[in-house]
Amino acid sequence: MAPGAGTDRADSEKREAAAAAAEMVEAGMTVGLGTGSTVAHLLVSLARRGLDIRCVATSPGTESAARELGLQVEPFGRFEELDIAIDGADQVAPDCWLVKGGGAAHTREKLVAAAARRFVVIVDSSKEVRRITAPVPLELLTFGLASTLARLGSVRVRDGVPPSPDGGVITDWVGDVDDPGHLAATLSATPGVVEHGLFPPDMVSAVVTAGPHGVNVRYRE
Ligand code: 5RP
Repeated sequence: MAPGAGTDRADSEKREAAAAAAEMVEAGMTVGLGTGSTVAHLLVSLARRGLDIRCVATSPGTESAARELGLQVEPFGRFEELDIAIDGADQVAPDCWLVKGGGAAHTREKLVAAAARRFVVIVDSSKEVRRITAPVPLELLTFGLASTLARLGSVRVRDGVPPSPDGGVITDWVGDVDDPGHLAATLSATPGVVEHGLFPPDMVSAVVTAGPHGVNVRYRE
């Protein structure tokens, strides 16, 4: 299934999770906006609240959608820190390891999440998994791509996906993920890897999951 596509039920769960997270934003805050179909609902909920907030976007798509809804989006370079960042995820494990980057925006998403005092993840119930599995998105430098791919081994270049806004090649790790922490460290230490889509639990402040029985918020702070 293409990123962003989904069933009606998944879509309404995304909308509910996004609406709950929008309530965590207060007037005067600086807000990091993620990327994807769940974040598209967040933008609508935030715009409806009409708060005086300053936003940073993690992708050109989010930036233009947010602006169209009347949200104030500023360059990330203006901020050393953000009050909150809110973003979707492709997988959320029970210990709060995440996989992100189904929409190829994980590099900017990780930078924005890392700058935020609180990082809130919004997902529909299909994203809750018992354990993290491949694919894990990767952004690779174009320079030396063939040798980076050879060093990594179990990686597939994503078909028909344009380079990231920063020029990186979007690929996926398709090998084993026995220990997300070990894989994250290995990928981070591999020359040519710009960023991987494994987000560690200590980056996550809360996970807002909407399911058939309503919205559940798990706090990690
Ligand atoms: C984009 C992402 C998205 O947050 C992730 O793919 C979830 O997308 P969606 O909300 O459309 O299900 O990491 O890079």
